[in-house]
Amino acid sequence: MFKRFNKDEPGKGAAVASPSLAPAAKAKSPPPAAGKAAPAVSTSPPKAQRKAAKKIVVETDTKENKRADKLLDIRMELHKRLLESLNLAVLDKASNEDLQREISIISREALRDMGVVLNTAEQKQLNSDLMDEVTGLGPLEGLLRDETVNDILVNGSQQVFVERAGVLELTPVKFKDERHLMRIIDKIVSAVGRRVDESSPYVDARLADGSRFNAMVPPCAVDGSLVSIRKFTKEKLSIDKLIEFGAFNEAMATYLQAAVATRLNIIVSGGTGSGKTTTLNALSGFIGDEERIVTIEDTAELQLQQVHIGRMESRPPNVEGKGEVSQRDLLRNALRMRPDRIIVGETRGDEVIDMLQAMNTGHDGSMTTIHANSARDAVSRLENMIAMTGVELPLKASRAQIASAVDLLVQISRLPDGSRRMVSVTELTGMEGEIISMQEIFKFQRTGIGENGKIQGHFVSGGLRSHFTERFRQWGYDLPSSIYAGGDL
Ligand SMILES: Nc1ncnc2c1ncn2[C@@H]1O[C@H](COP(=O)(O)OP(=O)(O)OP(=O)(O)O)[C@@H](O)[C@H]1O
Ligand SMILES: [Mg+2]
Repeated sequence: MFKRFNKDEPGKGAAVASPSLAPAAKAKSPPPAAGKAAPAVSTSPPKAQRKAAKKIVVETDTKENKRADKLLDIRMELHKRLLESLNLAVLDKASNEDLQREISIISREALRDMGVVLNTAEQKQLNSDLMDEVTGLGPLEGLLRDETVNDILVNGSQQVFVERAGVLELTPVKFKDERHLMRIIDKIVSAVGRRVDESSPYVDARLADGSRFNAMVPPCAVDGSLVSIRKFTKEKLSIDKLIEFGAFNEAMATYLQAAVATRLNIIVSGGTGSGKTTTLNALSGFIGDEERIVTIEDTAELQLQQVHIGRMESRPPNVEGKGEVSQRDLLRNALRMRPDRIIVGETRGDEVIDMLQAMNTGHDGSMTTIHANSARDAVSRLENMIAMTGVELPLKASRAQIASAVDLLVQISRLPDGSRRMVSVTELTGMEGEIISMQEIFKFQRTGIGENGKIQGHFVSGGLRSHFTERFRQWGYDLPSSIYAGGDL
């Protein structure tokens, strides 16, 4: 359990630089997001089957696959018949038990008509698949229920990948054909009042459970519709969990606590799916309950624990191309809402100007994320974003703007073994000529690759005292200097 730095009793609360701090190499490798077993009806196969699933790519006409394809055909046929026989008007009102009973009666009759004999397990699976098809998102439903799955990625009707514990794997899940996949996509997007077709071939939406959903359909998607789902996890990873998973260590957590509490402006930077939102969410845990926080996101994912929060979500234009509310609009409005802190889920466009201005004009303690591969890269991304807004600002001026707005860059990375680590914590300390000066306080030092491909390494401190040491002290965060001692933490 991470002991927070107690600013009233310095040295007592912080479990900093204690010899027991395990280097990251010894830290547990990240276990699956939630250790719970998949539900019985889940389509997520156990390890042995997952291996088999991988084979599907090469062996497309094994006996098992033929049987699976046949079952899929039967399922589609039965689904068609179900839609004809079920009273759709009462579908919403019927209880799950009633619906299950009804489905099993209709499917038994239909199988008899079709002269198909199934064993008990197949029959049970079929009924549960049909239930998913009628009430939910068909083949995706099992994966959505499976708590070990983080991401679901559909590449056309015949290929569904998932990400578990940072590693991508092919599943045996398939759609009957492109029409089947399109029907599921339509079901999702029409539920949120949007549409997707040839004229507007991509769409963002949020599933009923809060998961983030993106679809791109042909002709822009060349080999069939592409669907990407970032599953919503009710329990966001806490600072404790992230330390346990080896994302960073206690000394770094203590430093980050001071950085957030003393209202540094922080940017979390990282590649896609590297854990930016998760880190932002965890860091926000260091904000006090007495502060008013306003969050701005394209898809509301953050789940802050504080009491005083105003959440906002941008809105795409409607079918006639009207009614768009951009992140920039929300940000401008937020400034009139008396926020103590502004948190922007991801800065990716022209809201960058307002974000930096807000950071520079009294809304310190603001936080956001950005797509970039290193701290330097994050600064270049910001420069590019400023340039793209069309605001004519000489490079030096936009750098000066960035240098005075942003205090801290936290770089996250998903390493090839699937683990997610805070690879660098870098302070922006001002300008030297035309260049923004930075100092790296902590970094993840890779030392090699262990058995089973696990990346070995540990967190080290760069040996530099924080540029904000005095500020920390004034705010009551007199961190022990051992944090910056240099070498292994
Ligand atoms: N340190 C970690 N250990 C294990 N799992 C993690 C860790 N950090 C994040 N995750 C998981 O990884 C997935 C992706 O995380 P997250 O949504 O924070 O990434 P992101 O960088 O914001 O992605 P995107 O670029 O798509 O917005 C989530 O399911 C999250 O629970
Ligand atoms: Mg994110």
